[in-house]
Amino acid sequence: MSNKYIQVEQSLNLRGQASLNGAKNATLPIIASLILTDGVSQLSNVPRSHDVMCMMELLRNLGARADFIDEHTLEVDTSMLDTFCIDPAIMKKMRASILVMGPLLARFGKADVALPGGCSIGARPINYHLEAFASMGTQITMQDDFLYARASSLKASTIIMDYPSVGTTENVMMAAARTRGITRIVNAALEPEVLDLIAVLRAMGANITIRPAATIEIEGVDELKPVEYAIMYDRLEAGALMLAAAITGGDIYLPQAPAHAMEIFILKLQQMGHAIEVGAHGVGVHLKATTSPQAVSLKTGQYPGFPTDLQAPMMAAQCLADGVSVIEETVFENRMLHVHELVKMGANITSEHNRTIIKGVDQLRGAAVMATDIRASCALVLAGFAAQGTTRMTGLHHWMRGYDSLELTLQSLGGRISIVDCQDAEYQALLGQVNGSGVTASQAC
Ligand code: UD1
Repeated sequence: MSNKYIQVEQSLNLRGQASLNGAKNATLPIIASLILTDGVSQLSNVPRSHDVMCMMELLRNLGARADFIDEHTLEVDTSMLDTFCIDPAIMKKMRASILVMGPLLARFGKADVALPGGCSIGARPINYHLEAFASMGTQITMQDDFLYARASSLKASTIIMDYPSVGTTENVMMAAARTRGITRIVNAALEPEVLDLIAVLRAMGANITIRPAATIEIEGVDELKPVEYAIMYDRLEAGALMLAAAITGGDIYLPQAPAHAMEIFILKLQQMGHAIEVGAHGVGVHLKATTSPQAVSLKTGQYPGFPTDLQAPMMAAQCLADGVSVIEETVFENRMLHVHELVKMGANITSEHNRTIIKGVDQLRGAAVMATDIRASCALVLAGFAAQGTTRMTGLHHWMRGYDSLELTLQSLGGRISIVDCQDAEYQALLGQVNGSGVTASQAC
């Protein structure tokens, strides 16, 4: 993949109907939760994004079988799962690999893991995870980049979280589901993907109650059974597609969109002037873009606040809106790296720490840019559709980590986007342009 990049040409009026994939952020913890069971489970609506493949590899590494039996149905057999040691090379590929720690502790009372990798969107420590497991009776020692966790028997506990961390809530729920007694997570994350995991755990036989305000109560059971479950549709992919129509003056219908879990995002698009109809029971959206979008301001936050994962794509839309938008990122401390790239495309953005001020411009122009994380890659593609000329984006692996063939869906709506595989010299020249040197590989040599 090293010589591949995404090329986007100006494409106005993206329109049509599109299907969605299952949510990557729900799929990852749900695959991890299968460690709690003993037998064959089937998950449908599983996206084939690279992070999902990585989680499958991780389960295989533990001794499970994990195979797609059709395009989006994954079958996992955990009956042969026989080890609690994770290959550090897999662990480092993705931060979400930390999500196997809870299930491994519940199954074996042990977990040997390396510190996880992932997007460069902040320090992304795992202290909440470790503190929670410690309060459930786990001894954790750290040596170099390795964590050795041991619990002769996990004990139920009340865990009060400083911040409603999504991953910690998921990890603790999975451990607690097979831990005798009642575990309470106070100030828990209640993102739609967390609720999807709760639905799977309940289908396995777990006893989980959500109490006001933001407390999850888990009464452990001795055994959890394999499941058949359809993963929720991806609200972040839906958001990306809605923004693709919005930024190009188009019209899109997404019959599966979980609009009930996208309220603030939809409100902000409506405040911009876009016409949005939501289907019955909050499922399905139809967006017809305004020709004169107005700037809106927003601050990211935990659900039901504005999702941090749609902050970068939404910023791309603000670059061309009429007026001034202020966007504040409160979830991750380093999730503004796309600003620099959008500025290369002619956006008028000033930023201070995690607060950016975007003054709408009439036109963006294509440029050589670099995706720095999954959602930044989406923002740059969207900006590329609206920009005059050609945008070439490196950092393709981020796009592939987060999305399953989103480029094909965008093509079906009229988007001129392709993945280009080029020769070394061309790629080096592109990297030179991305880095601002404008020096081609041959000149550099
Ligand atoms: C998940 C999502 C990610 C999304 C994020 C917030 C997955 C695979 N990823 O990430 O796409 O952007 O939720 O909705 O589902 N923190 C700590 N210590 C910890 C854990 C987290 O300080 O032990 C901090 C993080 O650095 C971050 C904040 O808490 O600043 C939120 O992180 P968290 O909610 O845990 O996000 P993830 O589960 O990593």
